Amino acid sequence: MRVLVTGANGMLGIDLCAALEAAGCHVIRTDVGVREGAVVPPWEPMNITDMQSVASVVLKHQPDAIVHSAAYTDVDGCTRDPDLAYRINALGTWNVAAVCGAHNIIMAYISTDFVFDGTKNAPYTEFDTVNPLSPYGASKLAGEKVTAQLCRKHFIIRTSWLFGVHGKSFPGTMINLAKTRSELNIVCDQTGSPTHTVDLANTVTHLITSPLYGTYHVTNSGHCTWFDLAKRTLELAGVTTTEVKPIPASTWPSPTVRPTYSVLRHFSLELQGKDNLAPWEVALEHYITLRGTE
Ligand SMILES: NC(=O)c1ccc[n+]([C@@H]2O[C@H](COP(=O)([O-])OP(=O)(O)OC[C@H]3O[C@@H](n4cnc5c(N)ncnc54)[C@H](OP(=O)(O)O)[C@@H]3O)[C@@H](O)[C@H]2O)c1
Repeated sequence: MRVLVTGANGMLGIDLCAALEAAGCHVIRTDVGVREGAVVPPWEPMNITDMQSVASVVLKHQPDAIVHSAAYTDVDGCTRDPDLAYRINALGTWNVAAVCGAHNIIMAYISTDFVFDGTKNAPYTEFDTVNPLSPYGASKLAGEKVTAQLCRKHFIIRTSWLFGVHGKSFPGTMINLAKTRSELNIVCDQTGSPTHTVDLANTVTHLITSPLYGTYHVTNSGHCTWFDLAKRTLELAGVTTTEVKPIPASTWPSPTVRPTYSVLRHFSLELQGKDNLAPWEVALEHYITLRGTE
């Protein structure tokens, strides 16, 4: 299978390409650039906001499937500049979906728990009503809509709280901050499911070979607060000199309203008997081990 990946140099993108290649796919890596200092395999420039760029790269490589991971992922940046959020997350996805639809290409769009408002207080299924609270969530939801409208063979894959060795993530930030701080104040009243990019990448790789197109929730299993995640990360990393203190989200300086509860139930996978994602604690341990070998 020939699979083109957008955002291939991003945190998830790098693990996605590795998982696809390990499964025997021919992978075409595309991105708008590469982060300073990152060492990545050869890739092709493709700016998703530019329809000509998308059409020419896709037609040149003739993929069977596109995994669309590229996005403007700075949540507070999206709040400050909603037009840019829509340009990349909505228009960019529109361009990818239009080309996929026109050329019968399978499309897997990576979406987010931020499409929900967090008021359900029980795990959200793929059939629950969306109601994003932020421009990031709203622009990603707009991407879901154009994907479903323009491309029949589509997967919408919602995930949450990603961490991986190839990007900036919450556990990595905790470990780095602990090097210089004796105390960390961490939000204790927002709950979600931390997800290792390696586990998500493997599940996406399995999904795209299935004809059961549709919407899927894919996270590691279980849930916790940011406070729990910080504590467990430092325990696993062997940090004993930094104290983690709980604080309410209302005291954290951010322009973005976030869902207080955004746990995703993997209902589509459950119904198909395929819900086998590892608990987040196991995934975190795997991440810490990989980090140590980097
Ligand atoms: N991180 C999370 O916790 C989380 C949670 C739920 C869902 N997701 C979704 O998962 C996907 C991957 O997230 P990630 O954390 O791996 O993000 P990431 O590291 O920021 O990767 C996104 C990639 O897309 C690229 N990109 C940005 N604008 C582009 C454009 N106009 N054309 C082509 N590429 C462009 C970025 O390049 P630059 O770095 O140069 O901008 C980056 O390489 C995203 O769709 C995100 O919405 C993430």
